[in-house]
Amino acid sequence: MEILSRNRRLRKSDALRQMVRETSINTSDLIAPLFLKEGPNGKEEITSMPGIYRYDLKALMQEVQELYNLGIKCVSLFPVIDENKKNPNAMESINPEGIYQLAIKEIKHSLPEMLIMTDVALDPYSSDGHDGLVDHKTGQILNDETLEILCQMAVLQAASGSDIIGPSDMMDYRVGAIRKALEAAGYKDTLIMSYTAKYASNFYGPFRDALNSAPKKGDKKTYQMDYGNASEALRELQNDEREGADIVMVKPGLAYLDIIKLFSEHTCLPIAAYNVSGEYAMIKAAAKMGWIDENKIVHEILTAFKRAGASMVLTYFAKDMAKRLNE
Ligand code: PBG
Repeated sequence: MEILSRNRRLRKSDALRQMVRETSINTSDLIAPLFLKEGPNGKEEITSMPGIYRYDLKALMQEVQELYNLGIKCVSLFPVIDENKKNPNAMESINPEGIYQLAIKEIKHSLPEMLIMTDVALDPYSSDGHDGLVDHKTGQILNDETLEILCQMAVLQAASGSDIIGPSDMMDYRVGAIRKALEAAGYKDTLIMSYTAKYASNFYGPFRDALNSAPKKGDKKTYQMDYGNASEALRELQNDEREGADIVMVKPGLAYLDIIKLFSEHTCLPIAAYNVSGEYAMIKAAAKMGWIDENKIVHEILTAFKRAGASMVLTYFAKDMAKRLNE
């Protein structure tokens, strides 16, 4: 028997395996999502996301500093709004004195090099728990009517110091409208990371627990994508490119690696993957049962996002992964 091509030669030792490794995950690829709440009572753990907290401003600042020290250079902020401040018009979203704006300013002030990504959607502020305004007669989630407040949010966040605007409502013409509003207000260097292919997914449950933001009625299927579709993601990609997105995101991540790969074959823009709350919760739960090795699995899945074509990953594992990469 003559075997001339032996792929195992390259797998013989750690040194060889590392030398020929095609992708690896680095601290600079990680974006840490953080939940910010009204103070003052420090931090409280989210039941369905062990190890992840809602922080008041003071606790948030400490966490951001720790992340920065570990080499994480971008945080993505989500606000937890008190129920009595929610209303159908989501007015708290454009309160210049609200905790969200305060946090952006405070981080920029104390850590100017930390990149801040901010969320532009109504769900944290809406008493309806939807990402857009709701017509209460018909139950419809309104597309065009929601644009004005979203543009106001984006400009306010940019003025506070946000580096990256993340329109997360998955409705039409968000990127174009926000891009125009930012240009008109003089924020021409503010980036937009579009939630380009965001699926109507069952993996968002723990996030909605964290914000208490689940829809009061209905679901999000008239705006988020059907998980049976891939070509539709390319249509979304074309729109976002035309409308001026700087980074395009696929969300959730693990069940959608094919979409990340598809994007990598169709765009020259950087691609982000969002390793969402439900994916985090599943790994945490299985690890707690002793059924999987959490650290090894996290390294494997984060590497897989890179292999599929993502340049960066939003992940609740960011801090843990950074700690281990620093070891
Ligand atoms: C809503 C939003 C969601 C997430 C980020 N922004 C949930 C949703 O669409 O209902 C989910 C993130 C996660 O699950 O980690 N604008």
